[in-house]
Amino acid sequence: MTSPTSPTPALRVAFLGLGVMGYPMAGHLLRAGHTVTVYNRTAAKAQQWVKEYGGACAATPAAAVRDADIVAACVGNDNDLRSIVLGEQGAFAGMKADAVFVDHTTASADVARELYAAAREKGLHFVDAPVSGGEAGARNGVLTIMCGGDAPAFERVAPTLGAYGRAVTRIGEAGAGQLAKMVNQICIAGLVQGLSEAINFGQRAGLDMPLVLDVINKGAAASWQMDNRGQTMIDGKFDFGFAVDWMRKDLGLCLAEAQRNGVSLPVTALVDQFYGEVQALGGSRWDTSSLIHRLRVLCGKA
Ligand SMILES: NC(=O)c1ccc[n+]([C@@H]2O[C@H](COP(=O)([O-])OP(=O)(O)OC[C@H]3O[C@@H](n4cnc5c(N)ncnc54)[C@H](OP(=O)(O)O)[C@@H]3O)[C@@H](O)[C@H]2O)c1
Repeated sequence: MTSPTSPTPALRVAFLGLGVMGYPMAGHLLRAGHTVTVYNRTAAKAQQWVKEYGGACAATPAAAVRDADIVAACVGNDNDLRSIVLGEQGAFAGMKADAVFVDHTTASADVARELYAAAREKGLHFVDAPVSGGEAGARNGVLTIMCGGDAPAFERVAPTLGAYGRAVTRIGEAGAGQLAKMVNQICIAGLVQGLSEAINFGQRAGLDMPLVLDVINKGAAASWQMDNRGQTMIDGKFDFGFAVDWMRKDLGLCLAEAQRNGVSLPVTALVDQFYGEVQALGGSRWDTSSLIHRLRVLCGKA
């Protein structure tokens, strides 16, 4: 694992995709002293970024990556990623030889392997590097970054990723970063359902739930979700955070991978269905902790 704290040499870096995550991540690169060019499909957001941070923006991925030593990206899913990487206007068409593409999108291990192979054919490098830590982690530059790809390419980019990563770790070969992120999401799915059931149960029993969580969060039931989502779950507030739509996309990746490797994920599959019900209740953009809302609806307390 790399936990870079010392200054890194200034590089030319491009960042593609200025969404909730990418916008602040690109900002950290500029603040770390790198020369940054950004690209975003909706150009107004790229112009806004330049106004806020400095740097430059470009009209296409191919134009943004010209001369870049490192190209980082954070878009929605496999197809979004292909659309900014491949084709005449895609990043691979514009990157200089030996440059490294780092993908922070949560995507499939298959697309990571596919783009790794395409990169190698062109004399480029590809590192899959999905993140954990959410919007707050991106804003505060404390993301956990799980990487897959060749060790020398990883070693080249790790210090730069330290601009927004607290822990930057190579897990294994191409696709291993995405597989590790799937492990992360499988852990979270069951945990958030358990926390939802516990809080809903405690409230129905008439307990002072802020007090209960404060107490049990010092013991074996403690978790990041309890720390960061417990109170808002008690209050029924979900208008922030990591959207249910994104979580369903991630759980879909986990379930597809499990089908391929013959592993059973019964709780994950069930929680995925519950998130489908949250979507039907209007919660597509709500934070994933909104699983508790479904339970409240079921017992007529929403
Ligand atoms: N949000 C979180 O808490 C969180 C946490 C961990 C991981 N992630 C993962 O990080 C990734 C990005 O999440 P986000 O919350 O930043 O999403 P977001 O706010 O919806 O941003 C998505 C970005 O991708 C761009 N994009 C989407 N489709 C594109 C396409 N076909 N061509 C070019 N650009 C395209 C969007 O451009 P426009 O501006 O033009 O729409 C936007 O810049 C996802 O894979 C997500 O699962 C998110």
